[in-house]
Amino acid sequence: MKKALTIVLACAAAAALVSFNAYGAGGPKTEPRPKAKTIKELVERYDSSKCAECHEDVHDQWAGSLHAKSILGTPRTAPTILTAIDKGLKLFPYSGVKEDSDITVESLRMCMKCHLPQLDEATDDVAREIVATIRNWQQAYRDSDHDKAEKLEATIASLNISCKVCHNKVAIIHKYADGYPQPDTVYGSKEGDHEDAVYTKMAEAPALGESIFCGQCHGQGPNFELDHPSQCATLYGSYLFAYTAHGGSESCQDCHMRKSELGHNIQAYRDETMIKMAVDVKVEERSLFWRKNKEDGVLPIGVVDVEIHNKAGHGIPDG
Ligand code: HEC
Ligand code: HEC
Ligand code: HEC
Ligand code: HEC
Ligand code: HEC
Repeated sequence: MKKALTIVLACAAAAALVSFNAYGAGGPKTEPRPKAKTIKELVERYDSSKCAECHEDVHDQWAGSLHAKSILGTPRTAPTILTAIDKGLKLFPYSGVKEDSDITVESLRMCMKCHLPQLDEATDDVAREIVATIRNWQQAYRDSDHDKAEKLEATIASLNISCKVCHNKVAIIHKYADGYPQPDTVYGSKEGDHEDAVYTKMAEAPALGESIFCGQCHGQGPNFELDHPSQCATLYGSYLFAYTAHGGSESCQDCHMRKSELGHNIQAYRDETMIKMAVDVKVEERSLFWRKNKEDGVLPIGVVDVEIHNKAGHGIPDG
């Protein structure tokens, strides 16, 4: 009883702290910024290089992750976006897309919702410029024009899930309670002044260190809010309904950022540390001598029992 009371008091105190704090978490909903009209403008708005001046270690880690090239991918993502357009959008009778010139931000949202959420701050011209850039990049490869291909590849890679996406745009999840991200604030675990020239404040994003933060893009299944639901990553569903439902208590950040010691170089099966954390394998071998019939004589038989236990916080592989 006493314990329950303490918890209630603690919650009330925490709520009071949030509502009376000068920096709070988020704030009122802000007017949308003017739409970026070119890839260059969109990239500049979300550029991570300024942050690197003071957060060099974090930046170097992030640069090694797939978040730093979420449109290029391994580089499998960019070509797959074209496949989704050519074999999907253009063939669907009601998509409104027959030619590349019909492509809009809305029609690409079935991929960009997660691979480039900031595209909603750009004009339809930018959506078309991205598609054209990917096509030109592939053409440059086919023409063996390696300099051109490299330049275009760098442009595609500059479209990514940058510092400002995670620490501003998608940092706050429950916006009615915690507020909307403000244009002058980086969201993390601290509050106060921040040395950056544009992002002059720091405030707390209550869920940044929790799995639900990653769950925004790591998917639960079909994206039902879209006119044409797509399905790519579904691992957050598996985390919720298979892992935590069976007593798992670690977060995405626990395994992928903290225990792995990889920090912002968030990795999966391409990394040794993560591979070691992935499965327990028990192998038992024995050999038997088996007398099948007179003609064959005595045949040795090998028996191998393999038991694989998935220690990841979700089904593998995903996507
Ligand atoms: C001029 C240096 C400088 C620049 C540029 C800068 N930061 Fe910072 N940032 C700091 C310092 C110093 C702190 C730590 C303040 C403290 O601990 O009191 C900090 C703290 C933070 C935090 C909070 C960390 C926590 O523990 O919660 C985040 C998030 C952050 N910065 C993100 C960014 C992003 C994103 C950018 C680029 C838009 C950026 N910073 C640019 C100096 C800088
Ligand atoms: C719900 C968010 C979400 C949506 C929508 C989404 N993706 Fe993904 N996608 C991810 C995440 C997260 C990963 C990486 C991890 C994984 O597979 O679990 C990924 C991985 C991929 C990969 C493999 C990456 C590589 O480089 O090997 C490709 C290719 C891909 N997505 C293409 C697409 C395309 C094309 C669309 C649109 C038709 C799309 N995705 C829609 C979130 C999404
Ligand atoms: C995919 C989302 C994501 C991206 C992209 C990202 N961060 Fe973070 N960042 C996080 C999360 C989550 C944490 C909290 C980690 C924890 O709780 O252990 C964090 C923590 C931090 C911290 C606090 C101290 C630390 O090192 O953990 C700083 C500073 C920071 N980020 C800066 C940056 C900068 C600068 C960039 C760009 C180079 C960046 N982040 C890109 C998700 C991201
Ligand atoms: C804004 C959306 C977004 C957020 C937030 C986000 N991710 Fe991702 N993540 C992606 C996308 C998209 C990819 C795949 C990029 C590609 O290869 O095309 C990815 C890739 C990854 C990969 C690499 C998968 C592989 O195949 O190697 C891991 C691991 C990962 N994310 C974990 C996390 C964790 C942990 C968090 C939370 C701290 C997080 N992500 C937050 C969108 C996001
Ligand atoms: C208990 C630790 C643990 C937790 C919790 C965990 N992961 Fe993982 N995750 C791993 C390990 C280990 C791997 C590498 C598996 C492998 O080698 O195939 C992995 C793989 C992945 C992959 C690549 C999937 C693929 O295609 O194989 C993504 C993406 C990912 N995790 C994201 C997340 C996100 C997002 C969360 C939270 C919702 C999360 N993880 C929670 C340990 C964890």
